[in-house]
Amino acid sequence: MVVFFSGTGNSEYCARYIAKLISDEVIDSSVYIRSKQIAQLESEKPWVFVTPTYAWQIPKVFKSFIRQSALTGNKNAYFVMTCGGSVGGAASGILQLCKEKGLHFKGVSAVVMPENLITMFKAPPKEEADRIVEKAIPVIEKTAKLISEGKCFEKQKYNFLSFVQSEMSNPLFYKAAIKPEKFHTTDKCVGCGLCEQKCVMGNITMQDSKPQWGSNCTQCMACISCCPQQAIEYGKSTKDKERYHCKAFKG
Ligand SMILES: Cc1cc2nc3c(=O)[nH]c(=O)nc-3n(C[C@H](O)[C@H](O)[C@H](O)COP(=O)(O)O)c2cc1C
Repeated sequence: MVVFFSGTGNSEYCARYIAKLISDEVIDSSVYIRSKQIAQLESEKPWVFVTPTYAWQIPKVFKSFIRQSALTGNKNAYFVMTCGGSVGGAASGILQLCKEKGLHFKGVSAVVMPENLITMFKAPPKEEADRIVEKAIPVIEKTAKLISEGKCFEKQKYNFLSFVQSEMSNPLFYKAAIKPEKFHTTDKCVGCGLCEQKCVMGNITMQDSKPQWGSNCTQCMACISCCPQQAIEYGKSTKDKERYHCKAFKG
């Protein structure tokens, strides 16, 4: 079973592509996360968890989802992490999670996809984003082949830098960088409510036809990146910046 978490569609794209290549079903974890339901999942085939990279780890919310879910059947677990550049030393925390869950860790496959963290960086312009997705396709296909052959993914490098990124910078990022109160709408907002629907956490409510953000944000960038009016900003750091979300699915 392929289980994904995705804010702006990169990981969903990879998950659906892999599922098609290995003829497996796909589950969107946000259905459970939004409704605060505990998932009871059973899979005859290996588990394939597909997720973005957040500060060189899997997102905390996806980790909690996996931790809380009842996962029965196959014991093998593959992790596919989409990222803008690097997954750092994420494999170490995932190995620990697998041990807790009684799963056999089959490795992490890193798939470089367009950067979406526009509160800190820039998203690539459309043509460049398309090129990045094209380049990712053979990596996704190789990943799917290894899964269908039951082989482990190649071991990710773990060095001092990846340790600092995943073990030290990650907690700092969660403390310092996620500030939902900075999200606001401009007068371009038409009150369509798409941001509320796209929020993977169920953290947005519409009040007087305007989105209000609660405190349960994981900064997945879905709201700000999918707004058709480009009417959402994050403080001043996103002004005039390109928005990105993955529309492609060429499975
Ligand atoms: C909160 C946050 C943190 C991120 N941290 C990293 C990171 O540590 N390394 C990296 O290469 N990309 C990082 N990114 C970029 C995303 O991992 C990447 O664009 C991913 O493909 C987005 O997946 P999605 O579209 O499925 O949400 C981060 C993005 C967000 C929103």
